[in-house]
Amino acid sequence: MNAAIRAVVRTAISKGHQVLGIYGGYSGMLEQRAEELFLRSVANIIQRGGTVLKTGRCAEFMHAEYRTKAAAFLKSQNVTGLVCIGGDGSFRGATALYKEHGIPTVGVPGTIDNDVFGTDLTIGFDTAINTAVDAIDRIRDTATSHERVFIVEVMGRNSGHIAVNVGLAGGAEEIFTPEFPMALDKVVEKLKNSQSRGKKTSIIITAEGQKPGRAYDLAEQLRKRAGIEAKVCILGHTLRGGTPTVGDRVLASRMGSAAVECLQLGHHGVMIGVMKNQLIRVPLEQVAAGQNQLSKEYLELASILAN
Ligand code: F6P
Repeated sequence: MNAAIRAVVRTAISKGHQVLGIYGGYSGMLEQRAEELFLRSVANIIQRGGTVLKTGRCAEFMHAEYRTKAAAFLKSQNVTGLVCIGGDGSFRGATALYKEHGIPTVGVPGTIDNDVFGTDLTIGFDTAINTAVDAIDRIRDTATSHERVFIVEVMGRNSGHIAVNVGLAGGAEEIFTPEFPMALDKVVEKLKNSQSRGKKTSIIITAEGQKPGRAYDLAEQLRKRAGIEAKVCILGHTLRGGTPTVGDRVLASRMGSAAVECLQLGHHGVMIGVMKNQLIRVPLEQVAAGQNQLSKEYLELASILAN
């Protein structure tokens, strides 16, 4: 997200605006944790993971009285436009600030889950899947040396975008996603067949779904049903850091700059999305109500290629 912050600050200043950075997301807005940002404030951050503005979830923002307090703070600072970088939760807050208090708001999709409606890509997704595939390649080295079955769990909350991309790119034999549940009996049968053919090494990717750590449940099921002693590796929060890829830096720079252009042109209450590499504007209300649906294409391809 740092590349997006840098692009917002430098584009806004290039157009003669002043920029106020809010630290800690909506909680920081409520606590009035803010300071003016200058060209030099965002020097040397494009290559850094995470966000220099800090972030966090804010349960209070579910309640109108807190949103009123936040809007009052923004108005007290003469804020004439708000750029909100985050996922669908952040956009629900941004939509409310726009509709309830008339704060001109533009959203920039930043989450590793890639599950935001209205955009092919979210900032952080490309870096997360590259980080995951690097880890899976390392796991494959030890799995093939020891002829073992590994279950690798990736983040994504209720979406399987990370799982299917890293499963396909990592050559996984099986990929479990929340969107397309698989019958465990079929997976067990396939693993048994592989082992009977002398293919003792398998990499199974599972999205965390609602329950981080579900990979252990899966391993237990394989042990009980087939006597397979699978090893488990949970990538977890390692997917949330690291040096951003070129793809993410370019995407974030384009989206951050476009967000300022939108505010300048009076296009409020929208998110900057990308479709077929073209930037588009998507009404925030549609974004908050939707989700980037996972297609089965990658799963079917991975299943063919992993035999
Ligand atoms: O939404 C991004 C995400 O990384 C999810 O993939 C994950 O389930 C969740 O955040 C973890 O949240 P936290 O860091 O608050 O535990």
